[in-house]
Amino acid sequence: MRKPIIAGNWKMYKDVHEAKSFVNNLKSYPLPKNVDAVICAPFISLSTLVAHTKGIRLGIGAQNVHWEREGAYTGEVSVPMLQKLDVNYVIIGHSERRQYFAETDEMVHLKTKAALDGGLTPIVCVGEQLEHREEGNTAAVIQKQIQQGLFGLSSAEMKQLVIAYEPVWAIGTGKASTASDAQEVCQLIRQTVVALWSMEVGEAVRIQYGGSVKPSNIATYLSQPDIDGALVGGASLQPDSFLALLTNAHGDPK
Ligand code: PGA
Repeated sequence: MRKPIIAGNWKMYKDVHEAKSFVNNLKSYPLPKNVDAVICAPFISLSTLVAHTKGIRLGIGAQNVHWEREGAYTGEVSVPMLQKLDVNYVIIGHSERRQYFAETDEMVHLKTKAALDGGLTPIVCVGEQLEHREEGNTAAVIQKQIQQGLFGLSSAEMKQLVIAYEPVWAIGTGKASTASDAQEVCQLIRQTVVALWSMEVGEAVRIQYGGSVKPSNIATYLSQPDIDGALVGGASLQPDSFLALLTNAHGDPK
């Protein structure tokens, strides 16, 4: 059974005081039990978020990580450092990291492996750009990202991670993919996982859709057979909107 997972990606928004006030606000409401809720915040707020969410059902995640345990990598943060903070999740290969920080599928692979080795749940992002879609290359682009980003992972590792399908043209633009187009690609992702690993792994891995998801449209994505959750930027920044995403997700396991 795949439990729905809704993750907020705060990107480079919110200082530590704003992060604390968000969770203090959220604490006034019971979080739905049938959905895994996660907030992925800037590094500097992670320890505060972990400290202020003890006892509520909210996972905390980072938005990036380095693959080495330690070393001369100025400005980077490692998996053991996140482990020490009791962080549970990490977003890997977000299209903004691929686009602005030159992250490659090879780096995605190294980071994903390191995160899994350290007991973190990676949320591995894939997605096509507008020109790929217009040229009819969506399937080839997605399959390559899955193949190169995740090759060599064991079945147990694959079952632990989350894949986020985020068409680049839908991120932060208000131009969300239709639910049926998103379902088509998420189905392709699941079929690719079945082909590369097994039916059992394909049925277990959770796949999110991301790109202009809002409280008003989340249910249409979650009602698709291969969409198990959402990765949400803008609409995760306010506690009432984040809560509405969780409650509107109609979280029945698939
Ligand atoms: P958006 O961002 O919900 O603001 O479109 C999604 C993401 O980048 O993960």
